[in-house]
Amino acid sequence: MITTDTNFRRNIVAGNWKSNKLIDDAKEFVTALQAAVQTVEGAEVWIAPPLTSLAVVSQLQQSQRKIHWAGQQCSAYSAGAHTGECTAEMLADAGARAVIIGHSERRERMGETDDVVAQKVKRAWEAGLTAIFCCGEDAKERESGVHVRKVLAQLKAGVLSLDAPAVDRLIVAYEPIWAIGTGATALPEQAQEMHAVLRAGIAEEWGEEVARRIPILYGGSCNPANAKEIFSQPDVDGGLIGGASLQPDVFARLIEAADEEWKLRNHQA
Ligand code: PGA
Repeated sequence: MITTDTNFRRNIVAGNWKSNKLIDDAKEFVTALQAAVQTVEGAEVWIAPPLTSLAVVSQLQQSQRKIHWAGQQCSAYSAGAHTGECTAEMLADAGARAVIIGHSERRERMGETDDVVAQKVKRAWEAGLTAIFCCGEDAKERESGVHVRKVLAQLKAGVLSLDAPAVDRLIVAYEPIWAIGTGATALPEQAQEMHAVLRAGIAEEWGEEVARRIPILYGGSCNPANAKEIFSQPDVDGGLIGGASLQPDVFARLIEAADEEWKLRNHQA
């Protein structure tokens, strides 16, 4: 761990809806969540809706700045003849300020390699977006003790090796694959260990000053029952939430947990 003085770091709760919600469901969700986020001071709220809803809800919500929008992924290409691809620039145009890149579901099911992930991070930065970079080990890698090596290799290949990095537009998400959608959340100390490893990896390449500022989120079966303990770990700066981001009242409780943690860190609670 580089430091326990975390009050200069943003605290973020990001909902990844994956392939869920039609446009009307998305509008309903956002209307319901709005009331819950009005008093939040210490947590940034991000939602990554499916593409079809992104443009609609982000335009609808332009007047209220409490919710930020992200894409769930972007193309590795820029504009051109790439049927079906959505470029980072298009996401920005549709109202996104960030994009999730390197989620394990895409790495595994869509065959996204480290090189493709790196290319996407580059595209996101070129388009002025924040990259929410995901990394994490699978169950076998953890059992065989190569989890630290695995996430550091992903971080290096996908982010740290890029030229002209936009360090202020990077959010890292540690998402152990064995915890995603399984109900088997990482123990708070396991999350802390890995977040500290990632922060140290960033520090080694970009210096401690930068590493201290970059939010590192935990993702993997985070819910209102376990969020408080996970978010209270010194190197955990909130969460990337899948299943528990689909209902506004449940998601609001996670935002509340992050908000409370931020206030505690800043001695305002
Ligand atoms: P989960 O998903 O919260 O449903 O485990 C997290 C993620 O995939 O980002």
